[in-house]
Amino acid sequence: MTRRVDQLLSSLGYCSRKEARALCEAGRVTVDGVALDDVSARVVPTKVLLDGAPLDFPDGLFVMMHKPTGLVCSHDSRDGARIYDVLPEPWLRRDPRVNTIGRLDKDTSGLILLTDVGALVQRFTSPKHRVDKVYEATLDGTPDPQVIAAFAKGVALDGEEGVTLPARLEVLGERLAQVTVREGKYHQVRRMFAACGLHVAALKRTRFGDYSLEELPEGEWRPLPVP
Ligand code: URA
Repeated sequence: MTRRVDQLLSSLGYCSRKEARALCEAGRVTVDGVALDDVSARVVPTKVLLDGAPLDFPDGLFVMMHKPTGLVCSHDSRDGARIYDVLPEPWLRRDPRVNTIGRLDKDTSGLILLTDVGALVQRFTSPKHRVDKVYEATLDGTPDPQVIAAFAKGVALDGEEGVTLPARLEVLGERLAQVTVREGKYHQVRRMFAACGLHVAALKRTRFGDYSLEELPEGEWRPLPVP
């Protein structure tokens, strides 16, 4: 699919459409080694280079990030330092907007997916497509078999009707457990433990569906193929 070069550069957050004209006139935008001086030219996004470098995710952004604690997944800077503040700056200006797929609390670290492909958000968050999410929780006690059974049966959360979907709880060590849930209710893992009398001191998501954090260092991101 081809797109007008000024519209392409502005929708990927590099500049305004007006500034795109200046970039083209300065010879900074090339296709196949030829400078594009006509800002209305239609181009194949993957072939465009800006200052000799390919454009970031010209056909849709999909990345995994290792979220550190202390950052919020919200777009609103009034909520605190955002994960968007530590990602490449043009991403903040992309249209469609880059969003997290679901959220992690400010105090939770680990795997978060980000995309500007609306269909992906829908696919991973819709209750129809239940995706396993795996968390490692550091607790103030070691879960006993009753807690494991309660998680497997479903836990009643404070202020909510019904119970959570069955979740798998495995003890990894003293005060350390792994939880697999298939929902994404607000503060779900912390509230499930609280309902069973345990406090979560630290929480880290290690897996989301088929994606695992593996060795990705905290604060870093890596691209994923759009499924
Ligand atoms: N459950 C929580 O309590 N917090 C998160 O960030 C994710 C799941």
